[in-house]
Amino acid sequence: MGLSIKKLLPGYGAEITGVDLTGPMDDATFADIEAAFYEYSLLVFHGQDFTDETQAAFSSRFGELEKTVTAVAGIFDEIADLSNVDKEDKILDPSSKRSLYLSGNQRWHTDSSFKRVPALASLLSGREVPPRGGETEFANMRLAYEALPEERKRSLEGLVSEHSFAYSQGLLGEELLTPEQEAALPPVPQAVVRTLSNSEKKTLYVGRHASHILGMPVEEGRALLAELLEWVIQPRFTYLHKWSDKDLVMWDNRCLLHRGRPWDEAKYRRVMHRTTVAGDAPAA
Ligand code: OGA
Ligand code: MN
Repeated sequence: MGLSIKKLLPGYGAEITGVDLTGPMDDATFADIEAAFYEYSLLVFHGQDFTDETQAAFSSRFGELEKTVTAVAGIFDEIADLSNVDKEDKILDPSSKRSLYLSGNQRWHTDSSFKRVPALASLLSGREVPPRGGETEFANMRLAYEALPEERKRSLEGLVSEHSFAYSQGLLGEELLTPEQEAALPPVPQAVVRTLSNSEKKTLYVGRHASHILGMPVEEGRALLAELLEWVIQPRFTYLHKWSDKDLVMWDNRCLLHRGRPWDEAKYRRVMHRTTVAGDAPAA
């Protein structure tokens, strides 16, 4: 059986069946998947029994992989471990510093927008998922941009925001980043409206790492960013993925926001490993 593509929503998202991503794959099949990624922005695959090695191998066909901010010992640098289990494989205390750090993923964001060259794509592998809750929700910033009145689009043209991991993590609690982590990730400028590098399409580019707008009083810029975020997360632009074990969900960070949804963290394990494909240029 060959690869089959089913649209998830009218505007974006597709479910792909009939392909095993964990083993060798010919170039023609990969080309179909890559084309689907650029067309649909969000791809869902089921029954993909990845190890970290096979996940990194498949992911790196899309481009160079990012190294994580806090590489967890024992797992190599290209894997971001979002799991609520510790190195001994025990459930984390939901009030632990690590849990608080990870809770940032439950706020709307786009991965690595705090890096000068932000991420192109993320591939999230649900190794063990809770029976309820813990979904991942997406919002399409490109469709949200297209739906803006022309006059509004014009007024946003050329605006640049400052994205900072110290800012966004600072909102969760104090001292979640070591001084070394903070020094390694100084604030960066990103366009509020960015153009996708492989097309002429424009998209909003916002999320929790965006702190304020350059050249505008901080509170005014923050209010504008909050207003744009509210616009993007309207139900007509969002999609909720309900996980099964061994799902692989891949998305375009240039034009989608995402957030994890809460679950009973004290009771249920949620083991999620992510690979991140680096982008090719700054957004501003
Ligand atoms: C991520 C992320 C949310 C989730 O993988 O980058 O934010 O549902 N995940 O775990
Ligand atoms: Mn994320």
